Amino acid sequence: MALIHLIYISSAIKEQTDAELDAILEYSVLRNKQNKLTGMLLYAGGNFLQVLEGEEKDVDAAFARIEKDTRHHGIIIIDRETIPFRSFEKWHMGFHRIKAQDAVNHPGYAPFFENGFNPEKLGIFKREAFGVLLTFAESYRDKPHLR
Ligand SMILES: Cc1cc2nc3c(=O)[nH]c(=O)nc-3n(C[C@H](O)[C@H](O)[C@H](O)COP(=O)(O)O)c2cc1C
Repeated sequence: MALIHLIYISSAIKEQTDAELDAILEYSVLRNKQNKLTGMLLYAGGNFLQVLEGEEKDVDAAFARIEKDTRHHGIIIIDRETIPFRSFEKWHMGFHRIKAQDAVNHPGYAPFFENGFNPEKLGIFKREAFGVLLTFAESYRDKPHLR
């Protein structure tokens, strides 16, 4: 079986409250533990950017459920490919809500989340999408208990 990652971007049907985001995250962590999936979810100005990694069949099964979720729409797959190893092994699903300060702290990525994730910009920059996800996952490296 192949280890893969799938990265997608989507738009929330409405601006999500912290409680709504917590609910998504809590359920994702629970389900991903069962399915041996790991990854990271970012939320910026009404848009989601998520990476899921695991066995191909597990990633595809989770994504099939995620795709049908009415809390978001406009899903665009940015990348789906075989990976040699997991990059998010510490997180069944890490999470970070992008704040204005993040654009200041990470000026290289600022164009991608200044106005929420712009699908047109991120969609063509696979490497940047992965980099953004990894950057924020690593900011929680010393606090794995959070997720
Ligand atoms: C932005 C977003 C990210 C999600 N991420 C995951 C995830 O990583 N894993 C997962 O199992 N469900 C995730 N979900 C929830 C699924 O869309 C869906 O509600 C859930 O998997 C349904 O599972 P069930 O039918 O087995 O209850 C996510 C939902 C949203 C809106």
